[in-house]
Amino acid sequence: MRFTPNSLLAGLVFSGFGLLVAADTDATVSTTAAAIPANVTAAVIDLLDANHILHFLDVVDAFGHVSVRNPVNSSQFFMSYAIAPALTTSQHIVTYAINNATAVALTFNSSVVGAKVPTGFAERYIHSEIYKKFPTVMAVVHSHTQEILPFANQATVPFVSQIHTSPAVGDVGVPIFDTRTLSANVLATSALHDLLVRTEAVGDALAAKFVTGSSVVLMRGHGMAVHSTSIRDVVLNTFYVKQDATVQLQGILLGGGRVAPLSLNSLEIANASVTVHGSFVPRAWPLWVKQVDNNPVYENDLRGKAAPAATGF
Ligand SMILES: *[C@@H]1O[C@H](CO)[C@@H](O)[C@H](O)[C@H]1NC(C)=O
Ligand SMILES: *[C@@H]1O[C@H](CO)[C@@H](O)[C@H](O)[C@H]1NC(C)=O
Ligand SMILES: *[C@@H]1O[C@H](CO)[C@@H](O)[C@H](O)[C@H]1NC(C)=O
Ligand SMILES: *[C@@H]1O[C@H](CO)[C@@H](O)[C@H](O)[C@H]1NC(C)=O
Ligand SMILES: *[C@@H]1O[C@H](CO)[C@@H](O)[C@H](O)[C@H]1NC(C)=O
Repeated sequence: MRFTPNSLLAGLVFSGFGLLVAADTDATVSTTAAAIPANVTAAVIDLLDANHILHFLDVVDAFGHVSVRNPVNSSQFFMSYAIAPALTTSQHIVTYAINNATAVALTFNSSVVGAKVPTGFAERYIHSEIYKKFPTVMAVVHSHTQEILPFANQATVPFVSQIHTSPAVGDVGVPIFDTRTLSANVLATSALHDLLVRTEAVGDALAAKFVTGSSVVLMRGHGMAVHSTSIRDVVLNTFYVKQDATVQLQGILLGGGRVAPLSLNSLEIANASVTVHGSFVPRAWPLWVKQVDNNPVYENDLRGKAAPAATGF
């Protein structure tokens, strides 16, 4: 096209329209962006870091997931749609209704609505049902961490807290959720028996396995679910559940399988929980954030490389 004065004018008018349309679209997007409460952005910044840190620490691999309850609407939670946790950015975060784990919207992209939200994790019911049953829970992790699987696959040696960094394991013996024990009205005989938590009913049965004194449930042949009152706490706790499993297994081997290693007792667990929450989480978080910031696999597009907030979600 030759730029005659007329075509230039037409071009200007046309692009003027384009600008208007673009400005309109931008206005819609930025109005929505402006409407995202600061606490939601702050919670999702921690959620993205949690996804990356859990991968960095070998708690999750290509699979597994972490979520956070919406701090301004306790009936919702945020979690990525079905992608590897290491690759999560704000554009993958979905707002889910706790009621039935259905997608409400892409949290940071209002132009994608309803059925257009990409497919979520089949096992998002783990999260929705734990939030439903425990109103004070703010964050949930589900992982297939290999170190805990020996304890998930047998019920004769109770998995208990071995180290001062793992009071979340508890001294009661972590319950084991076994899909084989579910009645046919929870998991129909004709349903998939691939050990995944694919429905509200199975998620509810899993959530019902949590006991006072442990924030962990092991899942036979599969992995674990961990909950906590904050996202930074659930990350640290889940990492040390993994470490705890290694220590306990080594302790059992060292004792020739004849002596059960000592667990922290309930007083130690109570006091260590306060120390972990008050001192260890704030010290570990900036280190782990720096480590994922220095690895190009991970991108937190909401935080850039700014230091994490002093207080987390
Ligand atoms: C935002 O979060 C902070 C810290 O959790 C809390 O004190 C504050 O009340 C929250 N604000 C809103 C509007 O929810
Ligand atoms: C809170 O979330 C629920 C479930 O998605 C939704 O029905 C409700 O409208 C939300 N409340 C507000 C104030 O947005
Ligand atoms: C899920 O629950 C919401 C209310 O929170 C409702 O509007 C929606 O229809 C439900 N979706 C399904 C698939 O049950
Ligand atoms: C929203 O998502 C759509 C579809 O993935 C994408 O084309 C668009 O660029 C996204 N918008 C923003 C503001 O990122
Ligand atoms: C240790 O935990 C117990 C039980 O929660 C509590 O009563 C006690 O005050 C704690 N000890 C200290 C020194 O904080």
